[in-house]
Amino acid sequence: MYAIIGGSGLARLSVLTQVRREVMRTPYGEPSGALTFGALAGREVVFLARHGYGHTLPPHEINYRANLWALKELQVRGVIAVASVGGIRADLGPGSLVVPDQIIDYTHGRRHTFFSGADAPVVHVDFTQPYSARMRKLLLQAAQACGDAAVDGATYACTQGPRLETAAEIERIARDGGDVVGMTGMPEAALAREAQLEYAALCVVVNHAAGRGSSKDEIKLADLDEVLKATIERAVRIVEAAVRASSQPEPA
Ligand code: HPA
Repeated sequence: MYAIIGGSGLARLSVLTQVRREVMRTPYGEPSGALTFGALAGREVVFLARHGYGHTLPPHEINYRANLWALKELQVRGVIAVASVGGIRADLGPGSLVVPDQIIDYTHGRRHTFFSGADAPVVHVDFTQPYSARMRKLLLQAAQACGDAAVDGATYACTQGPRLETAAEIERIARDGGDVVGMTGMPEAALAREAQLEYAALCVVVNHAAGRGSSKDEIKLADLDEVLKATIERAVRIVEAAVRASSQPEPA
């Protein structure tokens, strides 16, 4: 079974059938909402709305540990995270879909590890390649199968939010090598690694990042929803195709 974590614009996966909900508790508290089980492309999946079903949780208040722990308990085969981002790299404008391959973490004060506290062992996980190569490939091939374009590889910069960045912050992030900017990729990806869950993200670019392109002077928040609505449907189709393809044997 695969897990799908839906971000802004994807609080509900309306293409799911035979839906059943389950409230889960974890040693880290409660996940963002009930886990929704259902069938997608004829396969069982579990869906979780990252910001809660009513989009009530801001990025810095999400209980990432509870979310990932619940998915670990369910022994999911992999996690597909859908998230909206701002585009920094010139070719990543609004409406682009991106499967990032690297992360830079600018967040602070988030509960970002399972390995803390008196009882927890001291563990360092390898995070050189923060995303699962297999899951990334699954998403990229699914996009191709849908006749859609998803950009293969980008560095996801995770900022603290909930405010958007200043133009100077985006300049700095660009100098650091950041290509897209979002607020929820971390610690989600790191916790998935700690939980030994295969994890990849499909990012929906909803705006030019601050100071870039059409956001030169300001980010027009009213425009974001429209781009999101138009693009999220493509993302859902790609996720569906990925789930459909996931249980096909790899060609020899
Ligand atoms: N910055 C941070 N997070 C975002 C943005 C942005 O410009 N757009 C969507 N999520």
